[in-house]
Amino acid sequence: MRMLSLLLLGVMLSSAAVASNEIDPDSGLVIADNWQLVKAHCGACHSHALVTSQRGDRDYWLKTIRWMQRTQNLWDLPPTIEEKMLDYLAAHYDEREWGRRPPLSPILLPGNNEKENKKD
Ligand code: HEC
Repeated sequence: MRMLSLLLLGVMLSSAAVASNEIDPDSGLVIADNWQLVKAHCGACHSHALVTSQRGDRDYWLKTIRWMQRTQNLWDLPPTIEEKMLDYLAAHYDEREWGRRPPLSPILLPGNNEKENKKD
């Protein structure tokens, strides 16, 4: 019995270690290097959900920041801080993170069945 519980404990500890990053319950952001910078700078005007629902590479995030600075009064970010936020965003909110499952075939999507099921 002692052996079994030790074994179970071991399994639990090792699966906790490989579990994916934790999510901050407050903002929904992935907790990883530099996440607090993004929490501090990117939730003042809109929900952090606007950030966590988007995916893109570093260039996408940089362009989004520039666009907000040009048109939405986003303040200038010190370059070192901006770099760190871009590192974080590109690492955790890249579209490749989303691409794990291949897209569904169009015939499996709603609205297309009727057409596809027609034999003639
Ligand atoms: C000064 C205010 C402000 C701050 C701070 C701000 N944003 Fe925005 N952001 C906006 C506004 C306004 C919109 C447009 C919202 C809408 O369309 O409803 C927006 C939109 C977005 C979008 C959606 C863009 C799209 O294509 O629809 C993303 C992603 C985003 N912001 C990310 C960020 C990130 C990352 C940060 C931190 C670097 C940030 N925002 C900080 C004002 C801000």
